[in-house]
Amino acid sequence: MEIITDIAALRTRLQREPSIALVPTMGNLHEGHLSLVRIAQQNAGCTVVSIFVNRLQFAPHEDFDRYPRTQANDCQLLQKLGVDIVFLPDEKTLYPVSQEFQLLLPPLADTLEGAFRPGFFRGVAIVVLKLFNIVQPQLALFGKKDYQQLHIVRNMVQQLNLPIDIMTGETVRSEDGLALSSRNSYLSGVERQQASHLFRTLLQIKQAIERGHRDFRSLEESAESDLTSHGWQVDYIALQQRETLLPAHASDTDLVILGAARLGQIRLIDNLEISG
Ligand code: PAF
Repeated sequence: MEIITDIAALRTRLQREPSIALVPTMGNLHEGHLSLVRIAQQNAGCTVVSIFVNRLQFAPHEDFDRYPRTQANDCQLLQKLGVDIVFLPDEKTLYPVSQEFQLLLPPLADTLEGAFRPGFFRGVAIVVLKLFNIVQPQLALFGKKDYQQLHIVRNMVQQLNLPIDIMTGETVRSEDGLALSSRNSYLSGVERQQASHLFRTLLQIKQAIERGHRDFRSLEESAESDLTSHGWQVDYIALQQRETLLPAHASDTDLVILGAARLGQIRLIDNLEISG
């Protein structure tokens, strides 16, 4: 496995690769990331994993400074999997000058996560587009855990005619259902025990819909009040159409329930697809 920090060196190394898959990450890798790497390896001759904590997608009050940076361990995990290249740029490499060119994202980027993290998707889109331009992969992998991010990246690729296939991997969960996330390491012991309540709440909505319940707004409201009564601060519980990520109506069939809520200082997100 090669660790490359420089854009020119990466481009030279990739010149001889006919099929490249990119797995963009911010590091602190867990089984969710590793499952994406395995899909990449099955679908391309050369797998590049990028590790870069992207300042642009953090608001000033968010956890950029304390975001877990575990590069040595990440590289060991990737080496064990037989990854070809780890791209490990520093901030000066990806942002040598202040990023004045920006992207104007669709209104959807201001809803759900975007409503609570203004500018988040713009930061994600810029770094993802940069990584696409640097690596020029034929394939890129994004997990369903970040459902809205996946949706926005897919639309960016489609609307800007980028010659890249976006593939996805299912959310990987702990035994109690908690979706794996680099930020789970922030949870205290007690919070960790309570954390799977978000998943169980989404699962109850899924089961209610599968039993024929069609009053989506009341399902959202009762899920919110259940979480609140268990000490959570809910940002949103939203039943959306899978294709558009707009609010779902009773007649819609391909649905996704998305949720974001805080347990103490820790904000968790999760989602479940539903065929209703
Ligand atoms: O999902 C993430 O880890 C990040 O948002 C991404 C896609 C690597 C961009 O920084």
